[in-house]
Amino acid sequence: ASTLAAAAQQSGRYFGTAIAAGRLGDQTYTTIANREFDMITAENEMKIDATEPNRGQFNFSAGDRVYNWAVQNGKRVRGHTLAWHSQQPGWMQALSGSSLRQAMINHINGVMGHYRGKIYAWDVVNEAYADGNSGGRRDSNLQRTGNDWIEVAFRTARAADPSAKLCYNDYNIDNWNWAKTQGVYNMVRDFKQRGVPIDCVGLQSHFNSNSPYNSNYRTTIQSFAALGVDVQITELDIQGGSATTYANVVNDCLAVPRCTGITVWGVRDSDSWLGAGASPLLFDGNGNKKAAYNSVLNALNNA
Ligand code: G3I
Repeated sequence: ASTLAAAAQQSGRYFGTAIAAGRLGDQTYTTIANREFDMITAENEMKIDATEPNRGQFNFSAGDRVYNWAVQNGKRVRGHTLAWHSQQPGWMQALSGSSLRQAMINHINGVMGHYRGKIYAWDVVNEAYADGNSGGRRDSNLQRTGNDWIEVAFRTARAADPSAKLCYNDYNIDNWNWAKTQGVYNMVRDFKQRGVPIDCVGLQSHFNSNSPYNSNYRTTIQSFAALGVDVQITELDIQGGSATTYANVVNDCLAVPRCTGITVWGVRDSDSWLGAGASPLLFDGNGNKKAAYNSVLNALNNA
């Protein structure tokens, strides 16, 4: 196959990208995105600050632009993200306790209700675990509403849209030896044991010199999958853009049947949150395929 999406489809997987609504008027951008990718994540447009700028007043204009572009071009959509300590609107940052808990529930119902039946998978909870060696939860206003906030979010989400897969999504949970990875693993195991609804784990997979790709990544994917959840690589980028590392990541996903798809976090280097200088993606700023692109395509085709 000659595109990333078609090559991934050969093994029943998808290959996605993050899309920014503000770039949909850029024809180089949309041409590449439409040709190469079959799963779309809104880079910012479905987040809390974008979708509920005022309490109880939802705004789906930017989110719908990304959603409609995707669906009009025959692509599926991952929803990102419903409960997160970051990119909260000011009114939510000002809440605490039971009123914040209720606002989280109302937000999940409002956004998932709007997109009910239309989303492949939602990142229900994003980045709830702490960096470093604790293996515990991150301190946040949501965490301070009570340790059960994550399972409440998942139970709310299941009821709001039973057709969407429900994912827990985080960064620095790629290295199997890291405490943060183990913390999330223990949570997912507990949820499966107690029947808390969860269908997938998103490994963001932002690789850089502080959190480099490690060959135990495949063990991480296998271990989560063995708990009975899908694994998705949700925000892949690699600082420096090593073609070898890109191939390793793809091969690790392909080695695990329940690793169902890969999403890169942007189209061209110039679209990346890291800046073009980091060279983290598969296309250069002119829209040319990089060595990393060929390496990913080959890996997918050799599956
Ligand atoms: O939209 C405003 C614009 O009106 C304003 O003029 C401009 C000036 O700063 O800011 C624009 O908003 C920025 C937004 O990106 C859109 O470009 C925000 O400041 C900026 O903070 C925001 O950054 C996003 C970041 O999440 C925020 O947390 C990145 O685009 C986005 O790639 C990044 O994505 C996250 C995932 O959601 C979760 N995992 C990590 C990943 C990378 O940080």
